[in-house]
Order: sequence, then C-alpha cells, then structure tokens
Amino acid sequence: MTKANWAAQAFDDLADRYDAWYDTASGRVLFDLELGALRPLLAGTAGPRLEVGVGSGRFAAALGIEVGLDPVEAPLRLARARGVRVLRGVGSQLPFADSTFGAVALIVTLCFVENPAGVLAEVGRVLRPGGRLVVGLVPLDSGWGRLYQEKGRTGHPFYSHARFQTLAEHRLMLALAGFRLVGARSTLFQAPNDQPVAEPVREDTVSGAGFVALAAQRESAGTD
Ligand SMILES: C[S@@+](CC[C@H](N)C(=O)[O-])C[C@H]1O[C@@H](n2cnc3c(N)ncnc32)[C@H](O)[C@@H]1O
Repeated sequence: MTKANWAAQAFDDLADRYDAWYDTASGRVLFDLELGALRPLLAGTAGPRLEVGVGSGRFAAALGIEVGLDPVEAPLRLARARGVRVLRGVGSQLPFADSTFGAVALIVTLCFVENPAGVLAEVGRVLRPGGRLVVGLVPLDSGWGRLYQEKGRTGHPFYSHARFQTLAEHRLMLALAGFRLVGARSTLFQAPNDQPVAEPVREDTVSGAGFVALAAQRESAGTD
C-alpha cells in the first residue's frame, strides 16, 4: 500500500474520531477561525464547487460546496449525511470532465496526498476558465505546523501520514502548477497547546499564521 493509501486508510478507520474533534471546545474555535479565512475566498465563485479530500464534509457543508471527493468511504458517509454529493476517488485522477467546476477547495489535504503536483494539475484541468482554487493549509513555518509535525513524528494517527510544508513551498507548488495567487487570508497567530480563542482573520499571507487560506487561478485565465 502506498503512503497516500495509508493516509486515507487512517481517515477511514478513524472517521468518527476525526469528525468528533470538530465538536470539542478546541475544534469549534479552530473550525470557526478556519471558516472565517476560507469563506471570503470562496464568496462569489460560481457553482458547481468541488472539495478534493472532503473528509466528513464539515467545511463543504458550511461553505456551500456541493460536491466532495475522497478515497475512502467512512468519512464520505458522514459528508453525504451533511448534504454533500460525494464520490470516491483520488485527487490525482479526478473523475470529472475538463472545465467542470467554478471553484475547487483543498482544505488541509495537500499535506496528506502522495502527489501534490499531480493533484494540482488535475484541479487545473477540472476548473473552468477563470475558476478559482482555494487551498487551506497549516504552514510548517508556524508554531502549529511545527507542533503537528512533531506529533506526527511521535506516532499521531493522522499527522504521522502528513508532510507539512512551508508557506513558501506552497507558493512555489502553486506557481509550478500554473496558478497565480489572487487572494489570501491568515489566522491563528496564538500559540498552540493553549485552549484556542477567537481572533481576527487578517488579509493576505502573514508570517507565523497557523492557518492560511490561498486563492489562485490558472495563469492563462482572465481576472475575476
Ligand atoms: C485532514 S483530512 C481533511 C478533510 C476535510 N477537508 C477537513 O478539513 O475536515 C485529509 C483528507 O484527505 C483525504 N485524502 C488522502 N489522500 C487523498 C488523495 N490522494 N486524494 C484525495 N483525498 C485524499 C483523506 O482521506 C482525508 O479525508
């Protein structure tokens, strides 16, 4: 089994545990902060929208993303119950025709896929001209990224399958895949480990943020 399959297998085996985290005190605060960063970047995008690595569909449901794809069934059952139209598949071989979606989201998923460049190429293919890619990520060059990476090293059931990257590495990956940045939001400047609290979302990419949302379009596409 490949590393990507192992990652997906962990989300299959522990789908209920993963999903239940969102209902904890910390999960609720972090989910709201992350939604606050993602929502403005998806606002005004045309449907249908797709989330690759939709998991249990919490973000898709809250953000009005109609279609979700994930390699494993257990999280998809939860996403389906939240009203998301779901399909099984992998991001590097999307089962959709060219130019299908007005927006595609990748929310804390690029770090779990084996072939991020292949996934970005496929996302570019299924986006309509002028369509928008929105990436939610935990930068390795943040207190949260370093903590999650360390947890992964010591056997965390999910983070041990992740390969966290810096914000600069994400920018480079997007540029190499033919995307240019058209917007960004940053949040989670508080230190990890403490009980998280609400805080403002800032425009643009801001160094040290524990969660960053990037909006991008294909280089060849016109502006919004
Ligand atoms: C950290 S979860 C994020 C789920 C959801 N986006 C969220 O934020 O709650 C990462 C997801 O990526 C999925 N995944 C793993 N490998 C994948 C691949 N090759 N293509 C698409 N999704 C994949 C996992 O099954 C898992 O549901």
